[in-house]
Amino acid sequence: MEMSALTTPLTSKTFTIKNRLLKAAMSEALATSQNNPIEALIHLYRRWAQGGAGLLISGNVMVDRKALGEPGNVAIEDEQDLAMLKKWANAGTQHDTHFWVQLNHPGKQTPKSVSKEPVAPSAVPLFGGGHAFNKPRALTTDEIWDIIKRFGRAAHIVKKAGFTGVQIHAAHGYLISQFLSPHHNQRTDEWGGDLNGRMHFLLKVYQEIREHVGDDFPIGIKLNSADFQRGGFTEEESIGVLKTMDEAGIDLIEISGGNYENPKMLGGDVKKSTKEREAYFLEYAEKARHLVRAPFVVTGGFRSEKAMVDAIESGALDMIGIGKPFALNPDLPNQIINGSYETVNTKPIKTGFKPLDKRVSSMLDLTWYEQQLARMGKGKDPNPDLPPLRTLVTMIVTHGTAMFQKRRT
Ligand SMILES: Cc1cc2nc3c(=O)[nH]c(=O)nc-3n(C[C@H](O)[C@H](O)[C@H](O)COP(=O)(O)O)c2cc1C
Repeated sequence: MEMSALTTPLTSKTFTIKNRLLKAAMSEALATSQNNPIEALIHLYRRWAQGGAGLLISGNVMVDRKALGEPGNVAIEDEQDLAMLKKWANAGTQHDTHFWVQLNHPGKQTPKSVSKEPVAPSAVPLFGGGHAFNKPRALTTDEIWDIIKRFGRAAHIVKKAGFTGVQIHAAHGYLISQFLSPHHNQRTDEWGGDLNGRMHFLLKVYQEIREHVGDDFPIGIKLNSADFQRGGFTEEESIGVLKTMDEAGIDLIEISGGNYENPKMLGGDVKKSTKEREAYFLEYAEKARHLVRAPFVVTGGFRSEKAMVDAIESGALDMIGIGKPFALNPDLPNQIINGSYETVNTKPIKTGFKPLDKRVSSMLDLTWYEQQLARMGKGKDPNPDLPPLRTLVTMIVTHGTAMFQKRRT
């Protein structure tokens, strides 16, 4: 086969990935009510591995089952699910595919249905999140250390199960991203203050994971280019974090942006020039790529093969991160390789009732895509005509059930 920008393998100190197409993390919400992985995940990742991606990143896996991004997240606290994790790793590593687990703690971005009192660096509530998220309390130093240890333990189990890497979720407003933000982190101890203080937690999480997995096991990071909110984590600070993580030995950098308060990672208001090049965070990559040694990925907005090829050929990045299109077309990489790919266009998912759509828009969007993953988990094909109103009902039932179960425990 003739090598092109997207099919040339990517080699670094810790890995060789067979092509430049990365399936970005998408929360599957397919675990049991006790957060154990199930067969559906195995079917889904077998399908994606068959589809030809070089690197699959799992949806965010929680390090504490009491702190979830949403009901149905997988949590890894100990080895109780090791047998199932091994099957999951095996399915996603078929066809010489790399399969990394994204590890996360949501901090304050834990819905009311999951947690009465979420934790965060400081007791700063989520702006506009009153109807869905409770006000957090500030973590104690002992609790911070406990979470750091949890990241290390989970990574150890991930490696033991046969996954080929881990990714630290430091983006999208979850706990690590909250520590990085001067708006969300108002601590005056060694975990807050200037950028060095605010990135202390991330650095400790990385060092703890490295200690558990050794030097040869890839550790990636997903980081915001910025939070895009007043008083939040800036582009300049993001570049500072990149340089530090690069020096510390990070193996792959994936760039995204935004959080629940301003979900830039899912598109929305983008400039005309950005629309033409599709990817939302390409300008950042052009500034930052040459400052670091680790391979660089940008995720968000890539749809056409031309935009992907142009981005790699520009030298601003090494891999293309793709989310939603993989939920609608799991065979995207093979189709690119064999020349049959037709651009997957994604549009915002709406019920058509404006006041409702305004209130639930990103949540509805995410749940609709998760339903496509659930279909593949059952061995079905994705259905681009899935009615959004049905998604809304699923959302209400899922959160209602989680709330009911939480009250009973
Ligand atoms: C259903 C869904 C779930 C997601 N879950 C995660 C997640 O668990 N971790 C993460 O880093 N990003 C998550 N994302 C964001 C994607 O990784 C990606 O950054 C975003 O969809 C933009 O890329 P795209 O335009 O190619 O879809 C999710 C996106 C979707 C649609």
